[in-house]
Amino acid sequence: MNLFERFGQAFMPNYGVPPVALARGEGTRVWDVDGKEYLDFIAGIATSSLGHAHPALIEAVSRQVATIAHTSNLFLHEPEVLLAEKLLSLLDGPARVFFANSGTEANEAAYKLALKYGRREGRTYFVAAENGFHGRTIGALSLTGKKAIRDQFGPFPVEVRFVPYGDADALKEAVTGDCIAVFLEPTQGEAGVVPPPEGYFEAAREICDSTGALLVADEIQSAIGRSGHWFAHQADGVTPDILTLAKGLGGGLPIGACIGFGDVGRLFEKGDHGSTFGGNPVSCAAALAVLGTLDLGHVTSVADRLRTGLESVDHPLLKGVRGRGLWLAAVLGEPRSAQVQQAAQDAGFLVNALQPDAVRIAPPLVVTAGEVDTFVSAFPAILTEAAK
Ligand SMILES: Cc1ncc(COP(=O)(O)O)c(C=O)c1O
Repeated sequence: MNLFERFGQAFMPNYGVPPVALARGEGTRVWDVDGKEYLDFIAGIATSSLGHAHPALIEAVSRQVATIAHTSNLFLHEPEVLLAEKLLSLLDGPARVFFANSGTEANEAAYKLALKYGRREGRTYFVAAENGFHGRTIGALSLTGKKAIRDQFGPFPVEVRFVPYGDADALKEAVTGDCIAVFLEPTQGEAGVVPPPEGYFEAAREICDSTGALLVADEIQSAIGRSGHWFAHQADGVTPDILTLAKGLGGGLPIGACIGFGDVGRLFEKGDHGSTFGGNPVSCAAALAVLGTLDLGHVTSVADRLRTGLESVDHPLLKGVRGRGLWLAAVLGEPRSAQVQQAAQDAGFLVNALQPDAVRIAPPLVVTAGEVDTFVSAFPAILTEAAK
């Protein structure tokens, strides 16, 4: 049996059998187990921010694992303090940090933090966006606005009311004085890299301020340079009450963060929440290496080049390009994203068939101008192949 057949036999079928078995990587390049080389334009779903085998990540993780790999939360360690302080220095206003291992756990912490506030204030329900994605555990799933993955696991402990994403009037109507919190992505990632209309996040902030609901920005996919800013909400000029992070923060090592601003950051009392592995020294060292290495100027310049390049592609299958920074969707005129993914793979590029008509393009944040040009030059032929 080959590796794919063995995967199919050993694993639960929730992922299906992935199409490529990756063996190693270097920068934006990865190689599969047969030695075929690809340019990685998906970065482990917007996660491998420094690409693969980055010297800074190798050095930080190796040094940390050789020093102390785990303490549990019974003991503190310097990397977690340095990382919390570093994140806070990049954010506006006083805030407090909780470290988890993943995005869904960061949102689970946000859910509990908001619930603590809601119970104290006698508030009863959450608001979230249709097609939004917040994770797969029961709390995070209950906030996820995708019927297909949500409904079969309900009912959920707290009511969640869903509104169309980007519609400030609908949001205003849904958020009353009984609403605990509004969970929103600054750009919807899994829904197809869909930015909201200009002013939507500011409107959400105002609606929350006038009703006393908390604004939770799920920046698990959008933060840590992906949008060209450290945090996407900074581009909108809005500070949330709770911010959740994961993905790009650890550059491939598992870490998530839930950050509470102002009084919200002090709501948890001793014993209210915790995690054995959350904020472990190795993941914190990795995140410090990511934050210390990323160059937002580089991200902005290669992002402009990628966007301009893709927008200049004149092909009947390509309807447009949307997104922010190094986080784009090529929007197709027909539902052929699976064919585009396959044709890209055959041509030596990894992209992601995100929605039937949207292909996610999210290279490592260290992608070079030359690699962007290589991808853009190959894209028309990939589209032609996919259209056949
Ligand atoms: C916006 C958003 N929130 C939450 C999650 C869940 O994160 P994780 O897969 O690390 O649990 C994701 C993952 O894609 C995401 O994009």
